Amino acid sequence: MKEHKGFTAWFTGLPCSGKTTVADRVAEILKEKGYKVERLDGDIVRKELTSDLGFSKKDRDENIKRVTFVAKLLTRNGVAVLATFVSPYKERRDKSRKEIGDFIEIYTRCPIEVCMKRDVKGMYKKALAGEISGFTGVDDPYEEPTNPELILDTDKETLEESVQKVLEKLRELGYYEDD
Ligand SMILES: Nc1ncnc2c1ncn2[C@@H]1O[C@H](COP(=O)(O)OP(=O)(O)OP(=O)(O)O)[C@@H](O)[C@H]1O
Ligand SMILES: [Mg+2]
Repeated sequence: MKEHKGFTAWFTGLPCSGKTTVADRVAEILKEKGYKVERLDGDIVRKELTSDLGFSKKDRDENIKRVTFVAKLLTRNGVAVLATFVSPYKERRDKSRKEIGDFIEIYTRCPIEVCMKRDVKGMYKKALAGEISGFTGVDDPYEEPTNPELILDTDKETLEESVQKVLEKLRELGYYEDD
């Protein structure tokens, strides 16, 4: 296993915008190239690390605060961290950037109508039917990144194009070489 500079690629965006799908594929490629990789994904983290938290602004911020701490430890130990969280609040993401340092913000930008159509887990349907409340994009805010390192327009790009854009950005920033 080669030694590499650690980083956290932080994917933010609406539910179903493509965070998990793109990051999983990037993780596979980095692993094949011999990088130490960890995935931190909202669904798993909320089960294993922050199951006590809900979806109020306070709890969402606490969720991201805890996972940022984990990402920071991994990053400083040379791990390529792929973090995938809706992380709807800009101020909280900016704090994560500051704390982690080697932080690449990737915005999976996708129109809400497309996200609703994808509805991978059937959550939009539930939110629109009023069965759940405080769902980002339906009755909870999403604050768009103002200056992300990378934007992926997942309604226009294929998965493979989005993945290549991430790898290219990591290369440009000195975190990835595929020799
Ligand atoms: N260019 C693309 N990049 C990523 N996903 C895409 C792209 N084009 C189409 N898709 C599809 O969009 C869906 C995205 O779902 P995914 O679970 O990755 O979203 P998510 O942002 O992780 O959502 P959540 O916040 O609910 O976990 C998948 O079904 C995926 O196949
Ligand atoms: Mg996901």
